[in-house]
Amino acid sequence: MGLNLIFDYNNRMFVCICLGVTDQEISNAIEEGHDSVYAINRELGAAGCCGSCMPTIEAMLDTHKGKSQSSEELPYYAAAAG
Ligand code: FES
Repeated sequence: MGLNLIFDYNNRMFVCICLGVTDQEISNAIEEGHDSVYAINRELGAAGCCGSCMPTIEAMLDTHKGKSQSSEELPYYAAAAG
């Protein structure tokens, strides 16, 4: 499955195109403790329409969990592409 990422002219990266949710908003929600796609959906609405952003959100969650367990830092889009 390909990535579903769009940048606007303010260089914001939209992960959820359907609901207009950016990577920064999702990262902030994860940092605040939203630890599942369901929790992100409840907080921001992301993944509430077509669902094509779910793999990217899951990869962001996995990356965050990995960061809290090790110092290795892979960009979440690299994990999603793998
Ligand atoms: S891109 Fe997120 S629900 Fe469609």
